[in-house]
Amino acid sequence: QWTTSSIVDEQVARIRTEIGDGHAICALSGGVDSAVAGALVQRAIGERLTCVLVDHGLLRAGERTQVERDFVAATGVNLVTVDAREQFLAALAGVSDPEEKRKIIGREFIRVFEEAARDLKEQGDAEFLVQGTLYPDVVESGGGTGTSNIKSHHNVGGLPEDLQFTLVEPLRLLFKDEVRRVGLELGLPETIVHRQPFPGPGLGIRIIGDVTGDRLDTLRAADAIAREELSAAGLDHDIWQCPVVLLADVRSVGVQGDGRTYGHPVVLRPVSSEDAMTADWTRLPYDVLERISTRITNEVAEVNRVVLDVTSKPPGTIEWE
Ligand code: XMP
Repeated sequence: QWTTSSIVDEQVARIRTEIGDGHAICALSGGVDSAVAGALVQRAIGERLTCVLVDHGLLRAGERTQVERDFVAATGVNLVTVDAREQFLAALAGVSDPEEKRKIIGREFIRVFEEAARDLKEQGDAEFLVQGTLYPDVVESGGGTGTSNIKSHHNVGGLPEDLQFTLVEPLRLLFKDEVRRVGLELGLPETIVHRQPFPGPGLGIRIIGDVTGDRLDTLRAADAIAREELSAAGLDHDIWQCPVVLLADVRSVGVQGDGRTYGHPVVLRPVSSEDAMTADWTRLPYDVLERISTRITNEVAEVNRVVLDVTSKPPGTIEWE
């Protein structure tokens, strides 16, 4: 009989055996898998775990705080935040091709994380690397496009020789719903445990056009409003995710306040899905759509039009890029 607390006990015991009196490092992405993996290892070895949050500047409003304040408060974990926003913006400058963006973000992420890992290793604070690999990832073996985790199952993809770690994968026998239950059992906040999926490359692939600091601020503001209104309407559990996409290379004419504006549209992309392989566009109530649209066009200066994506997957993917 697998109860959640017996899963926790069993994993904690297993991690203690695996790590002995060694030290471990864990990259947090703000997502549920890395958070639960980190919390389990923290429960097992306490102070000897260091979590690293790479702030690439492509996070949504409040996500860094959620990790720095709420996750730390819930677990007492040692956290190092690396502020790499400038580095990512510089690397992404002038790039609008989606796959190019993904490559750059993945590459910079590895670089930043590697540097943090090297520092910790030199201080003797890391021989083990914690990964939030789930059972479906193991089965797919290499599946997933995530850059939020460094995914690679046996040796850590692309890390240089002197940086070899032994992997610890405390979730490798669990499915997503079990991971969430373990997260709750460990006292993690609902906002982390039930967070909707968010791509590793973050807001970088939700700006159609090249990525700039101003565009990120605009999109972050619009996205925060959409999330706030969807939550207030109690719709979080009906929606798989709702990307908000900034059409930065498109301009549209509007009338706002005293005059004519020439701003940008944002797209709402609410989808319902079981596993993201296929998805249906979510029939959101008109009054919720209206509140989102009114607030975004009133509160976000650069945006003068809100449009709704009514395409299923297939043929459309969930993300626009
Ligand atoms: P698509 O757009 O392919 O998305 O229908 C399916 C699911 O995957 C997420 N997604 C990504 N996740 N890195 C990630 O970690 C990526 O590059 C990436 N692209 C898409 C998307 O949010 C959806 O949940």
